[in-house]
Amino acid sequence: MADALKSFCEASSAALRADPGPGGREQVRRMVETLVADPEFVETWLGSEAPLGKRTLYEDAELGFVVLGYRQDKPHRSPPHDHGRSWAIYAQADAYTDMTLYRRLDGGEGAGPAQIELDRSYRLEPGHAGLYDGPEIHAIDYPAGSRYVRITGCDLDRVPRLRYDLATGEAKVIESATAS
Ligand SMILES: [Fe+2]
Repeated sequence: MADALKSFCEASSAALRADPGPGGREQVRRMVETLVADPEFVETWLGSEAPLGKRTLYEDAELGFVVLGYRQDKPHRSPPHDHGRSWAIYAQADAYTDMTLYRRLDGGEGAGPAQIELDRSYRLEPGHAGLYDGPEIHAIDYPAGSRYVRITGCDLDRVPRLRYDLATGEAKVIESATAS
């Protein structure tokens, strides 16, 4: 593992151990902004030799957080979704990701009828990272050539999550990694 990635993972582990609450996650968000602004890190892990799609760069054996690298060659727009009980940080390295946040209006938490409305949207540019706590509903939209790092509090494949259908007003449990 190259030095910048290794240092980042060690520092993140220390920050999350020292403060398992929002303060620790905010420290990780700030540190990953520095990481994705490092051209050597980007070239090594997300460069032209890196595999397309998603790959796991690090998984913390003790705390369970996961650092993922994404090199996308096709545009993609996800449905609104949440991350269940996990938090997530999206950090842009190249191109951009448009992030849209939604509010759930019906007071519910689980699957079933779910009314959501647009809260706000903004663009993550290279060097910028956003932190999303588990129940925060968001959708991502990026062009071909988008490269980013995502850190999740745990392996999302093991966490029940919801995706929201604006047309039918329903929330459904995500069966596979179709929404990110
Ligand atoms: Fe997400």
